[in-house]
Amino acid sequence: MPNWAAVIMAAGKGTRMKSKLPKVMHALAGKPMLQHVLDSVGTIQLGRSLVILGHGREQIEEWIDGRAEIVIQAEQLGTGHAMMQAIPHCNEVENIIVLSGDQPLIRPETIETLVKLHSESKAAATILTARFENPFGLGRIVKDGEKFLRIVEEKDATSEERQIREINTGTYCFNVAKLREALKKITPQNAQGEYYLTEVFQIFLAQGDVIATHCTEDVHEALGINSRAQLAQAEKVVRERILAYWMEEGVTVIDPGSTFIDAEVKLSQDVILQPFTTLKGNTHVEEDAIIGPHTTLTDCSCGTGCEVTHTVGNKAMIGARCTIGPFAYLRPGTVLKAGVKVGDFVEVKNSVIGEGSKIPHLSYVGDSHVGKSVNIGAGTITCNYDGVNKYPTKIGDNAFIGSNTNLVAPVEIGEGAVTGAGSTISKNVPSHALAVERSAQRIKENWVRNKKN
Ligand code: UD1
Ligand code: CA
Repeated sequence: MPNWAAVIMAAGKGTRMKSKLPKVMHALAGKPMLQHVLDSVGTIQLGRSLVILGHGREQIEEWIDGRAEIVIQAEQLGTGHAMMQAIPHCNEVENIIVLSGDQPLIRPETIETLVKLHSESKAAATILTARFENPFGLGRIVKDGEKFLRIVEEKDATSEERQIREINTGTYCFNVAKLREALKKITPQNAQGEYYLTEVFQIFLAQGDVIATHCTEDVHEALGINSRAQLAQAEKVVRERILAYWMEEGVTVIDPGSTFIDAEVKLSQDVILQPFTTLKGNTHVEEDAIIGPHTTLTDCSCGTGCEVTHTVGNKAMIGARCTIGPFAYLRPGTVLKAGVKVGDFVEVKNSVIGEGSKIPHLSYVGDSHVGKSVNIGAGTITCNYDGVNKYPTKIGDNAFIGSNTNLVAPVEIGEGAVTGAGSTISKNVPSHALAVERSAQRIKENWVRNKKN
């Protein structure tokens, strides 16, 4: 859409959040509120997005990092004042859509409808409205029949006007030239002593301009986040939308009530998500994988047909047909090739495990490179840390590591080599050799009987 820009107001303080973090940086489904708004507006490709910043602007500016243009409103004197700061940056565009950074549930479809209505009706302004059961605190849409008259803020409204259920969502389209002129005329003569953006509508009407309104069916879109309780309410809506989307795409979600999928997660057809599964960050899951129950994966990739149960994974790559868990912990840098088995009470960190290798129980494998078809016996530990530095362990293809082996790194186990159960291996083992490191077993006949006598 050439000749359009989006302007997102985000200079307000957000006092009720009681937080060090600026309000619009609080996350919903793993993504800052402001990003939700930028993404919704981004899908209709307006060309430019401007964000108005004031409170906590350093923190937000750092995050924005080229995602949008920044306009500073040093003092927060109201929504009209905020727009006065933005208007000089909109000289090249004909129309703008104005949104709030703390209303993250606005959908791209609605933005598109509003923009279309604005263009077709040749309006000076188009207002997105909603009908609320309890509209307390919000600006009311005063109409005479179908004809829009004005927006009145709760604090300025008469008791009759407070009965009105149709509210101003705070999302609008404006003709830039008309808005520029109208903003010159608004004054802070109202109950809050602020420059209200909503005052421009009366100015438009008085000069005979068209004002269009569109009432959204989805009341969530108007939900402004001012408190942690509203943040939780919005989180639930976002989560339900994400799950609905993936189910539509062919993902089975056994229990939507206990499944949490971040906004950026990518799933494939015929993935099955078992109860109490949380997929965070940049996690990707390929076809036919079964994730959960009780699994939390952050920034992980899961290959086709893998099964991951009761597992915590962080920045790990799980290959096709791997079986993980129960009770596995995959830490950053873990790369599991196809068909690997990582069983119960196993921790893997910064290690590549070759195709078809098995670490079935009770092991720690860190800073290691493990070849193909290796079997790592129960209780095996890579001793990768001497208290100062970390060292690598290398295990060749087809090696067999006996139960309870300590591999004191740096150490290399050759291809096809075997270590005896209970050995502490601190020297390299040649290919196809057996390494045993333990004292010979002694037998004392009748020792127990003699003692008891
Ligand atoms: C505003 C509307 C009200 C509407 C409501 C919807 C006005 C006068 N009123 O009220 O009709 O029902 O939104 O949520 O516009 N902001 C700035 N700079 C400022 C003041 C606000 O950037 O100086 C930003 C805030 O960060 C926020 C947005 O503008 O993102 C709305 O501000 P807020 O104070 O929440 O407006 P309301 O008084 O709730
Ligand atoms: Ca508000």
